[in-house]
Amino acid sequence: RQSGDSPLYPLLEAAAGYYRQALKSHPARQAAVDYLKGRGLSGVIARDFGLGFAPPGWDNLMKHLGGDSLQQKALIDAGLLIENADSGKRYDRFRDRVMFPIRDSRGRVIAFGGRVLGDDKPKYLNSPETPVFHKGQELYGLYEARKSSRDLDEILVVEGYMDVIALAQQGLRNAVATLGTATSEEHIKRLFRVVPSLLFCFDGDSAGRNAAWRALESCLPNLQDGRRVRFLFLPEGEDPDSLVRREGTDAFRARIHQQAQPLADYFFRHLMEEADPSTLEGKAHLATLAMPLIERLPGANLRALMRQRLGELTGLDPATLGEHAERPSAPP
Ligand code: UTP
Ligand code: MN
Ligand code: MN
Ligand code: MN
Ligand code: MN
Repeated sequence: RQSGDSPLYPLLEAAAGYYRQALKSHPARQAAVDYLKGRGLSGVIARDFGLGFAPPGWDNLMKHLGGDSLQQKALIDAGLLIENADSGKRYDRFRDRVMFPIRDSRGRVIAFGGRVLGDDKPKYLNSPETPVFHKGQELYGLYEARKSSRDLDEILVVEGYMDVIALAQQGLRNAVATLGTATSEEHIKRLFRVVPSLLFCFDGDSAGRNAAWRALESCLPNLQDGRRVRFLFLPEGEDPDSLVRREGTDAFRARIHQQAQPLADYFFRHLMEEADPSTLEGKAHLATLAMPLIERLPGANLRALMRQRLGELTGLDPATLGEHAERPSAPP
């Protein structure tokens, strides 16, 4: 990881300033303003998250920041310009998009996401990996969440930029997003350095449900006793943005209160969809699936309690469950 003095930081900051200013004063800004208003966002929230606008056109940013060829090379390194491999022509990566600056934990702009104003593809364009931006480690909104409150006790982990911002708009300022990548152990370690409790709230679709299970797997090795992880599953077709805007903050909080599932509950419920413990074969399968995962838990108490619960579900003796690892099958 490159040290704090990368020349890319001031460039990224200048780009964020350019996009912010364009949202305020560029002649083409109205479509972006209308888009953000249409999604229920106020000027205050736009300011808090540093939202901006990349105007239509191939060289707005390049003209504004481009300078000499050396400067343009740095903009390419920062992921802001693209150089065509054949023609060598350079052009702005982000064009005619609403811009979301991604900040690191110190508040430095390290990357951007840009959303189309309509239904074009790709819906979101993100900065590539750069010396200062490592996808799979960063969490969108973590800096802003920490800034909003000195003692956060729980962080909500969601999928998208707009989920973080819509929740903040509704007064729930403790959400962060994994930005379309799977929740990694690195994400989890970072989050547990900030709060003892995580609540995953992904989209109500099959991608969101798969992402939840992968998040659970990343949590297991980091779930010391004293830490808490919960999962809130949303109705089909909803995401936190759509739901909190439809239901309002109180209903969303009530949903968390009434429906969030502790990790251990979700764990067994999910595995029992695959292994039905009403038969002996199902019980055996359940133990086979669950044991290696339970053994990843670093917290001795939760590990013992989950073994015990597995014992109740299967009738196997929790004390010996650990010894029931699969034996290699006999040679044919
Ligand atoms: P979603 O498709 O759920 O987007 O992807 P969303 O945030 O709900 O989008 P809208 O604005 O409400 O329609 C979740 C996240 O996955 C990443 C983005 O970080 C997005 O917020 N993503 C999605 C991409 O990077 N590229 C894409 O084309 C789509
Ligand atoms: Mn989705
Ligand atoms: Mn959405
Ligand atoms: Mn979504
Ligand atoms: Mn499964």
